[in-house]
Amino acid sequence: MLISLGPQAFLSSVPVMLIGSYDIEGRPNIMTAAWGGLSCSQPPCLSVSVRRATWTHRAILERRAFTVSLPTSAQAGMADFAGLVSGRSEDKFSALGLTASAGEHVDAPYVAECPVVLELLLRHTLELGSHTQFVGEIMDVKVEASFMTPDGLPDPARLSALHYVPLVNEYYGRGDFAARAFAVGKTVRRQN
Ligand SMILES: Cc1cc2nc3c(=O)[nH]c(=O)nc-3n(C[C@H](O)[C@H](O)[C@H](O)COP(=O)(O)O)c2cc1C
Repeated sequence: MLISLGPQAFLSSVPVMLIGSYDIEGRPNIMTAAWGGLSCSQPPCLSVSVRRATWTHRAILERRAFTVSLPTSAQAGMADFAGLVSGRSEDKFSALGLTASAGEHVDAPYVAECPVVLELLLRHTLELGSHTQFVGEIMDVKVEASFMTPDGLPDPARLSALHYVPLVNEYYGRGDFAARAFAVGKTVRRQN
């Protein structure tokens, strides 16, 4: 039996993203975002939804660029802090002892201590209501070398990406391996 919870912004879990930007005075800032995700394969795009009241909102519009750094579950405290405090009033990189590295392809900083980083150019802006959706074209993906498989792919077991569960307001780490994508679905058709 399914119990209706009504219209809610909910998914079972979403990756926690740290949006990096330079503010109007050129200071690097990060904010935590859970509303967003991949939105196109070619060109590769990712969207984030940001409230107008945030310091990051204006920064993305001014530089038309942002980064997304993905924290591990061990970095939950840092991610939560970046979602509780505004760059308008505090230097979050300094408060957290993090390194702001300049993007190589876009005019935005990223968190050097995170194992996965995306660099994005702002391509589309959509007013949705409480949030503005920024669609960024992914100009580069960087993965920490020690988190790669010998085949040169990101190793899901080591990435240990931090996830957030809306409504419940809890963070979770990586789940267990379940099955191979684009493969396990070929084995489940019922035979009549
Ligand atoms: C787990 C979590 C997820 C969040 N997701 C979003 C989000 O998707 N969009 C948003 O506008 N704010 C989100 N926030 C709130 C912002 O991170 C928060 O307002 C932050 O202080 C903004 O920073 P800034 O003013 O330096 O840009 C989230 C906060 C937390 C803790």
